[in-house]
Formats: sequence, C-alpha cells, structure tokens
Amino acid sequence: PDVAVIVVAAGSGTRLGAGIPKAFVHLAGWPMLAHTLTRVFGIAEPVQVVVVAPPEYDESARELLGLAAGQSEALVAVVAGGDTRQQSVQNGLAALSPSVGTVLVHDAARALTPSSQFDRVIAEVRASGDGVIPGLPVADTVKRVTVDVVQETVDRSHLTAVQTPQGFPRAILERAYAEAGHEATDDAGLVSAIGHPVRVIAGDELAFKITTAWDLNRAALLFGTDRD
Ligand code: CTP
Ligand code: MG
Repeated sequence: PDVAVIVVAAGSGTRLGAGIPKAFVHLAGWPMLAHTLTRVFGIAEPVQVVVVAPPEYDESARELLGLAAGQSEALVAVVAGGDTRQQSVQNGLAALSPSVGTVLVHDAARALTPSSQFDRVIAEVRASGDGVIPGLPVADTVKRVTVDVVQETVDRSHLTAVQTPQGFPRAILERAYAEAGHEATDDAGLVSAIGHPVRVIAGDELAFKITTAWDLNRAALLFGTDRD
C-alpha cells in the first residue's frame, strides 16, 4: 500500500491511572486499542498498520490486530514502544513497508476518531505534499499567566487545538525524525522544525484524546454503556 498508519499505543496512561497501559483499558467491552483499530480499518483504501505497543502487551496487540483486520488484506505489524511518544513513533517508522509513500501517525488514545478523518488527512497530504494535521478552534478564552497572575489574553482566532492522525510524505517525516534535536509533543512539531510546511484541516469532536478518567467516562457515554 501507499499509506501506512502508525498507531502509538505504548504509553503507560499515568493520568488515567487505571494501573495498566491506557490503550488496553476497556471501553464498552473492548480495549481502547480495539476501537481505534476498527476505525483505522475503516479507511477507504488499503493501508499498512503498525501498532506500537508496550513490550509486555505484544501478544495482546497481535490478537487485537487479527480481530480488527478481519478479511482485510492490509499488512499489519506490532513493534515495541519506547520511553517517550517520540521514541515510540521512531520505532514505528522502522517497520514501514518499502511501498509506503504517505505516513499517518495516530494516538491509540483517540479511540473514537472517525475513519473519515483519516481519509481527509490522506487526501490533503497527497494534494499538498505538506504535513497535514486536524485541528479544532479553541472554545475557551485563553490567557497567558505567570503562576496565578494574568499577563495577557491570547488571541484565540490564531489558535487551533491539534488532534491526530497527523499525515506526512514519508521522506519528510523520516527526515524530521532523523534530525530531531528536541522532544516535541507532536510529529508536526518536528516537521515544522526542519522548515517543511504543515497545514491544518478541520478536526472532529470525536477525535478527542482519552487522557483522564473523565475522558473515559465521556467516551463510554457516547456508546450509551458503562465504562467497561
Ligand atoms: N505513547 C506511546 N509511547 C510513549 C508515550 C505515549 O506510544 N512512550 C502513546 C500513548 O499510548 C497514546 C499517545 O502516545 O496513545 C498519546 O500519549 P498520551 O495521551 O500522553 O498517553 P500516555 O503517555 O500513555 O498517558 P500519560 O501521559 O497520562 O502517562
Ligand atoms: Mg503521555
């Protein structure tokens, strides 16, 4: 396939505090990662899927991948994660198939992200040759503070709250990671750092990141079920 999706699922989920890696915490009867993969396999074209999992969850990830893949002919791989998200993505990059020209990086923790958001990112990467990230307008008023003293109100018309999947031409993303001089909180940050353009397309409310127990409850409510 021309497209690969690296699903980073190797985080420990400290803020959720469930005692197991976040991607394997249950939501409506299935590990979060299963929900994520169902949506990845809903992408309109065949894709390579690389799941980056905690080493001790390698077997679980393989099982979920088999289940979610069903009859799909997509290539699938599971690789071990690293200490940081950035290291985990780096490990995923090493597993890309030779045919891949477009790479999407996606947080497993954004378990409800619709397949259509992946399709739109892929289309925009192809059309522009740039990095492409989904973003939503910031609803709250945002202020710059020093501890508890307000310094200024930030003009939110110039702000976007960024989601995943983030998509890139493969060569650009590989170069960004090879030249990364710092830890960035997202992949587009590294691509911007090498001077390549990154565009924003409309995100989706369903692509919110499950970070805290509150987020997990919100996700469960969207299924109309209890949390697990
Ligand atoms: N991630 C990863 N490897 C890491 C850290 C994070 O693959 N070393 C992944 C997570 O599994 C998640 C995504 O990156 O899907 C976004 O990270 P985040 O929401 O911060 O997840 P955690 O790092 O697991 O959570 P926390 O920061 O609360 O510990
Ligand atoms: Mg984290």
